[in-house]
Amino acid sequence: MKSRIHRSWGVVNRKMKWLGVGISMVGLLVGGTPMGMANDHDNDHNKVEKGKAIYRESCQHCHGFSGKGDGEMAEYLDPRPANLASPSTQTKTDQEWIAVILHGRPGTAMAGFEGALDDAQVSDLMGYLRSLAP
Ligand code: HEC
Repeated sequence: MKSRIHRSWGVVNRKMKWLGVGISMVGLLVGGTPMGMANDHDNDHNKVEKGKAIYRESCQHCHGFSGKGDGEMAEYLDPRPANLASPSTQTKTDQEWIAVILHGRPGTAMAGFEGALDDAQVSDLMGYLRSLAP
C-alpha cells in the first residue's frame, strides 16, 4: 500500500515536472504576447493622441469636440461641417477622407490642409478620426 502511494507520487511528480515546463512555456508565450501587444497599443495610442492634438487645433472649431459637426463655427456655415462620426462619413475610405483633408471641398468652408499638414500628421489625424466612430 505504502509503496503504491509512493509510486503514484512518483508519477505525479514526473507529471508535475512536465506541467512545470508546460507552464513556463505558456508563461513565455503569454508573457511575450501582451508585451508585444502593449507596445503596438502604445504606438496606436500615441498616434491617436497626436492626431487628437492636431484635430483640436485645426478641425474642432468647425467639426466640434467629438467630430459631430457642431463646433462653435458650425452655425455660421452653410453647408454645415460634416459629422465625422456619422456612419455615412466613417464608411468612406481613408483615400476619400485624405483627399478632402488635403484639397478641401469646393463650395464649402472646408479648406485644404495640403502644405499645413505633412504625411505623418495626416496619418496621425486619420488614426484619431477613425476613433470617433461610435
Ligand atoms: C472652417 C470650418 C472647417 C474646418 C476648420 C475643417 N472643416 Fe472639414 N468640413 C467643413 C465643411 C463645411 C465640410 C463640408 C460638409 C459637406 O460637404 O456638406 C467639411 C467636410 C469635411 C470632410 C468630408 C466628410 C464627408 O463625409 O465627405 C472631412 C473628412 C473633413 N471635413 C475633415 C476635416 C479635418 C480633418 C479638419 C482638420 C484638419 C477639418 N475638416 C477642418 C468645415 C471645416
